[in-house]
Amino acid sequence: MPRDAQRGAVHHGLWVRAGASLRPYWIRESPLRPGFLRGAQCSAVFFIYKQSAMTAQRNLIIYGENIRALKYLLEERGLKGKVDLIYTDPPFATNITFTVTDGRSSTISSSSHGSVAYTDNILGDDFVSYIRERLLLMKELLSEKGSIYLHTDYKIGHYLKVMMDSVFGIENFRNDITRIKCNPKNFKRLGYGNIKDMILFYTKSKNAIWHEPKIPYEEADLERLFPKTDKDGRRYTTVPIHAPGESNNPQKFRGMLPPKGRHWRTDVRIMEEWDDQGLIEWSAKGNPRKKIFADERDGKRAQDVWTDYKDPMYPVYPTEKNIGFIDLIVKTSSDPGSIVLDAFCGSGTTLESAARNGRRWIGIDKSPMAIEITRKRMEALGKEENLSGQGTEFIDLTE
Ligand SMILES: C[S@@+](CC[C@H](N)C(=O)[O-])C[C@H]1O[C@@H](n2cnc3c(N)ncnc32)[C@H](O)[C@@H]1O
Repeated sequence: MPRDAQRGAVHHGLWVRAGASLRPYWIRESPLRPGFLRGAQCSAVFFIYKQSAMTAQRNLIIYGENIRALKYLLEERGLKGKVDLIYTDPPFATNITFTVTDGRSSTISSSSHGSVAYTDNILGDDFVSYIRERLLLMKELLSEKGSIYLHTDYKIGHYLKVMMDSVFGIENFRNDITRIKCNPKNFKRLGYGNIKDMILFYTKSKNAIWHEPKIPYEEADLERLFPKTDKDGRRYTTVPIHAPGESNNPQKFRGMLPPKGRHWRTDVRIMEEWDDQGLIEWSAKGNPRKKIFADERDGKRAQDVWTDYKDPMYPVYPTEKNIGFIDLIVKTSSDPGSIVLDAFCGSGTTLESAARNGRRWIGIDKSPMAIEITRKRMEALGKEENLSGQGTEFIDLTE
């Protein structure tokens, strides 16, 4: 760690913006405790873990109203078309004030007690316009291979879907994902228990980043999909090696032509190699089929109902989301090194997922409590050795 003998201070990797440039911020006490530095000179503070990160796009925590922050990213940070993934979880037009009761971080309620985390009081048409205004700016930030996932619920989500079709184009609508958020409820109400919410997924174009997600097989899947077992105990199934449609000049495989109206699915020489390697199973009637082994498959295709990602039992922040499904989104719809943005970042769940998966990240929130929790969360994460390659810049846009 660099030391300044004259000042008797240590440089912990903290940098302060001074006009257009950065200068090191020397601090005397050892623990890195940046807090909220205010004022024109100290409007941005940097936690730089490696000097080389100075030239790269840094991770950003932006404290402030997101309209202003999104414009700042477009106009002052040159990020138009540079963001590959947006996952964002705005208020749901619930007319609730979310609070955290002092000293009991697990007790989060909408009562008037405790410290206010945020207020969700923009309703109806005003809410749809409020989200639309922000989505238009987010769309400008998205790259051509970018995707956006908007988390919402069953009450307001359908209005947002119609609005999002007009913003992103209905042809770019990919999924309305059902996420099971909690265990079944037994509250008395006129209507069925609500255990799901909704994630609306759009891509900017048809060339979006897509790393096919695979869900590990469960025992029941293995028994259903790979019902046979070979002499070594490996589970497998078989598939035909011919497909519909005749070819003009069919080749013979082990002296036989494909059945009438069908063609071999692959080159005959490859099928002969498979046969030599014991990968073809011959039926009693002499029909060849290719063996497919369970242990050579990554898993099954992810579907649009997500059942394994209920929200944390003891959240530190109201409406904090399960990081598991955000990991799935981050791995599927962004590349290592991509910029991931959450414009309503709350406790920073998206940012943690992005960091753990080797992506760069930007989080925005106007709640001081959210920003404080996010800042501490990312600072703690930044100290983990394998995640220390990039710096974090804190920007206060509230003044
Ligand atoms: C549902 S919470 C997000 C929770 C988050 N996904 C998590 O896992 O912790 C919504 C957040 O949006 C923030 N928010 C609401 N309106 C905002 C605005 N106009 N600008 C910035 N943040 C806003 C609130 O302060 C709140 O923290």
